[in-house]
Amino acid sequence: MSAVAEVTRIGIVPVVVIDDPGRAHALAEALLAGGIGCAEFTLRTPAGIAALRAAAAVPGFLAGAGTVLTVDQAKAAADAGAAFAVSPGYDPAVAGAVAGHGVTMIPGVATPTEVQRAFGDGFAHVKVFPAGLLGGPAYLDALAAPFREVAFLPSGGVAPDDVGPYLRRPHVFAVSGSWMVPRAAIADGDFDLISTRSRAAAEARDAARAGS
Ligand code: 3PG
Repeated sequence: MSAVAEVTRIGIVPVVVIDDPGRAHALAEALLAGGIGCAEFTLRTPAGIAALRAAAAVPGFLAGAGTVLTVDQAKAAADAGAAFAVSPGYDPAVAGAVAGHGVTMIPGVATPTEVQRAFGDGFAHVKVFPAGLLGGPAYLDALAAPFREVAFLPSGGVAPDDVGPYLRRPHVFAVSGSWMVPRAAIADGDFDLISTRSRAAAEARDAARAGS
């Protein structure tokens, strides 16, 4: 199964900002226990790459890189075993570097022009950032009208109650956000909180898919 197909199946992408790579293994297990088998490890901290590498080694867990801003970061993410990579914006050089290393790129977009450019370059699965500020589900509906073959990953300002409304839309392949994985909870080793929040999100996902 491709990484995008796996992310679509999981439906929720936690956005991780981590300070200690030694927490990554337990974090991945806590997410799996909550019913979410993937995460985006942002490269915003020096620990990001090592955490990604550790999480990628956890059986049954799909580890991606987040906040991939440069070609060098794209290469480092690929070397660390990222299955997918996410950017807040779209840079063809970065996206090409990721793809050249066998990693699935999910570029970020905010406007119709950016969607059109990314789609024209072959990216039919894009992150919409910051989705909440841009207008939430209604904004994605407006984008989906002309871009019939593009699927969206809303991120930025997504709240727990937004999971159902987003995932009920056929043009949304997954939702993404940090609320399940607070930076302080990771640092404190509060993995029960992470599993509890993940389970709630997974239940909202399952309810949306069941049509309720
Ligand atoms: C990000 O890149 O920070 C993500 O979009 C997560 O945003 P959030 O913290 O608002 O969930």
